[in-house]
Amino acid sequence: MIILKIHTFTTMDYRPLINASKLPDVKTTIFTTVGNLARGHNAIDLSQGFPNFEADDKLKSLVTDALNNGHNQYAPMPGYFGLREVISEKIETLHNRTYDPENEITVTVGATEAIFTAITAFINKGDEVIVIKPAYDCYEPAIILNGGIPVYVQLDAPDYKIDWTVFQQKITDKTKMVILNTPHNPSGTIFSKLDMEQLEKILKPTNIILLSDEVYEHIIFDGQVHESASRFPDLANRSFVCASFGKTFHVTGWKVGYCVAPAELMKEFRKVHQFAVFCVDHPVQRALAEYLKNPSHYLDLNNFYQKKRNFFLEGIKLSKFKFKPSQGTYFQLLDYSPISNEEDEVIGERLIIENGIASIPISSFNVDNRNDHMLRFCFAKKQETLEKAVEILCKL
Ligand SMILES: Cc1ncc(COP(=O)(O)O)c(C=O)c1O
Repeated sequence: MIILKIHTFTTMDYRPLINASKLPDVKTTIFTTVGNLARGHNAIDLSQGFPNFEADDKLKSLVTDALNNGHNQYAPMPGYFGLREVISEKIETLHNRTYDPENEITVTVGATEAIFTAITAFINKGDEVIVIKPAYDCYEPAIILNGGIPVYVQLDAPDYKIDWTVFQQKITDKTKMVILNTPHNPSGTIFSKLDMEQLEKILKPTNIILLSDEVYEHIIFDGQVHESASRFPDLANRSFVCASFGKTFHVTGWKVGYCVAPAELMKEFRKVHQFAVFCVDHPVQRALAEYLKNPSHYLDLNNFYQKKRNFFLEGIKLSKFKFKPSQGTYFQLLDYSPISNEEDEVIGERLIIENGIASIPISSFNVDNRNDHMLRFCFAKKQETLEKAVEILCKL
């Protein structure tokens, strides 16, 4: 006789799979929320930071060539050597610092992976990391997941200039890392040579690591120079400099970037990279290596985006918004205080629903979600999109 034992499920058996979130404060990002709302209302979308035009056909056909030429298996763990070589040459030419492709350059899954990996490789429980706000949203979760403590320096609208005395006061014997972003998302400001020299002076007597997020390195306006951390010897000796081909070549969906650092730092970085992703899309790396051999492909970008910025700013000159021209990145902040007293998230939502234009409210990047009456508009858009956006903004 077969006896069937039937187990009845009682509440006593219920064991929650999640006891406590490792990131209790992380919610759906503002980019997703705004993007969904914009799509739902068929709004002109200047919220998210990516182009709505195509990448160069030449670059795309180089990827096709790489696929057809059989580069479809794992790339080397630190990246395709030919790509690391051209990255090294590019940095040497632009910033006069030599990074050894063998030990000091790693190709990553976008700058995001470079940032996450550098933080994971060095931040331990209780380590403090200085984050300059408003800040791009991927830094803090990575710090917190590793048990670190973000320590904030809040910049003020409309200039978003850093006060180095305030910055210095935030350094303690627990400070392990400083995160810098120039050109700066969302403010469109850049760190000057003087800023970088001040930072170099402050960090000199310490063993603090600098994580320099330079994804907009080639989008800088009015003849100004990108002051990469790799230009300043004492900064470069302690820095991870992170870059993104997505931003530079209009291919954010490919998620390929890189970072450079002195060999002893990079050795630790690669220990994490190796087990997080091992390696990055091989055919894309082959294509990028070829495409980078022509420097005009990245040096012409300043001019390309400056024209877009100028068109956008010229167009909204007669609007009620106040603004300081973006110095770099493909973002422009607009101060809506002459139009409304609303919270930025409220007006941001209203502009999507009632006026058909989407932007990003800046409060979500600030300490305690401070409202500075600023909305961020991305001008990496086709001419016709910018024309429509300008028309709407001038009517407000
Ligand atoms: C300041 C900043 N850092 C990093 C990233 C991420 O770059 P990637 O797409 O290469 O991961 C972005 C993307 O918007 C950004 O704005």
